[in-house]
This record gives sequence, structure tokens and C-alpha cells, in this order.
Amino acid sequence: MQPIVRPILTATGLCLLMSLTSAQASSDDPMTEQAKGLIKQFAGQLQSELKAAIQTGGPVEAVAVCKEHAPVIAAELSESSGWSVGRVSLKARNTTLGTPDVWETQVLESFETRLADGQPADTLSQAEVIEDDQGRTFRFMKAIPTGEVCLACHGEAISEPVAQALDEYYPNDQARGFKIGDIRGAFTLSKPLHD
Ligand code: HEC
Repeated sequence: MQPIVRPILTATGLCLLMSLTSAQASSDDPMTEQAKGLIKQFAGQLQSELKAAIQTGGPVEAVAVCKEHAPVIAAELSESSGWSVGRVSLKARNTTLGTPDVWETQVLESFETRLADGQPADTLSQAEVIEDDQGRTFRFMKAIPTGEVCLACHGEAISEPVAQALDEYYPNDQARGFKIGDIRGAFTLSKPLHD
């Protein structure tokens, strides 16, 4: 994974992009490795909680568990790692936490293009170093594919009780109508780089 470097022009018009060290630009760049490790942890925790909730209370109960636990898992992981860890989508359910910023929107759109070009959703990721007034920030995104288990809450034929629970918690929910293999969203991680 080669980080792509996109300099951001500041108000002064200066390109503040510093040259990347070879370590940062190499394919086994340690920041990318860290980000991937955190995503594994995040995805693993989400999946096991989701599975347990569906098994014990069915999908309606699992909606409530997702609502309570997903943001907590993300916050705890961010706290313990020093990274900012979250999930975003072009069609968000949690519009507060899940709405992408400008960079994330561009990356999600590029993932859609890559998917349309035949690259499977589970292979799509992007690393970039962003330079702005705040300094340099490493950003990483990894696409989240829609699988079979997701359809109960994100698919085209959501059962009435699940739809009702979703309506109640998420009046602006856009995260329905997905099919297997679609990009449901992406993990998004960032960390300031200190030189
Ligand atoms: C039991 C219902 C349920 C199932 C099954 C489910 N989700 Fe969700 N999903 C939710 C809820 C509820 C939220 C909003 C969580 C929050 O408030 O942060 C959500 C949010 C998300 C988000 C964050 C972005 C957004 O739209 O807010 C992603 C990404 C996501 N789900 C992917 C998946 C994937 C991939 C699967 C299958 C592996 C899946 N979900 C299965 C209920 C579900």
C-alpha cells in the first residue's frame, strides 16, 4: 500500500507538504500497518457484539445494541490508541458520526469507481498524508463490504419490526437498500504525524 500524498494549499498559498521519508512511503509503512491492526480489532469487536446480540435478542434487539455499542467501541479504541477511529458512508445511518468529510467523500467515491472497475469491495483501501495548518496527518480508509448478515438491517427487504426500530432511532437513515458486495461504508482512521 503506497500512501498517496496530496498537499493542501494553505491561505498563504504555500504548499506545506514536507518530503516523506522513505519509511513512510514504502509499502510496509508502519502507519498503514497500525491502522490495519486497529481496523481488525474494531471490526472483530463489532462483529462479535452484533452476532451475540442477534443470537440472544434477534435483529430488533441487535439494532439497539448496535446503536449503543458501535460508537462506544470506536471511542474506546480511539482513546486507547491515540488514533481517531470511526466509520463513514455515502449513505449514513448515524448521520452525526457517519457523515464523511470532504476527503472521506472523495475516497468513498473513488472506492465506488474502483468497485465498478471490478475491484472487490474487500480489497479497497487508501492511505494519504494530508498537510494543512494543523500540521501533517496520516489518514487511512478501508472499504466495508456488505455481506449476507448485514441485509437484515441494511438490505432491500428489511422486516417491519426492524424497520420500525430503525425509524425510531434514525429518522434520517439512508443506509438501506444495499446488496451483497456493495460498499456499505468504510473504516476511517487518522493520526497526527509529529516530525
Ligand atoms: C441488527 C441490525 C444491523 C445489522 C445486522 C448490521 N448493522 Fe450496520 N448499523 C446498524 C445500526 C443501528 C447502525 C448505526 C450505529 C450508530 O448509531 O453508530 C449501523 C451503522 C453501520 C455503519 C456506520 C455508518 C452508518 O451508516 O452510520 C456501517 C459502516 C455499517 N453499519 C456496516 C454494517 C455491515 C458491513 C454489516 C454486516 C456485517 C452491518 N452493518 C450489519 C445496524 C445493523
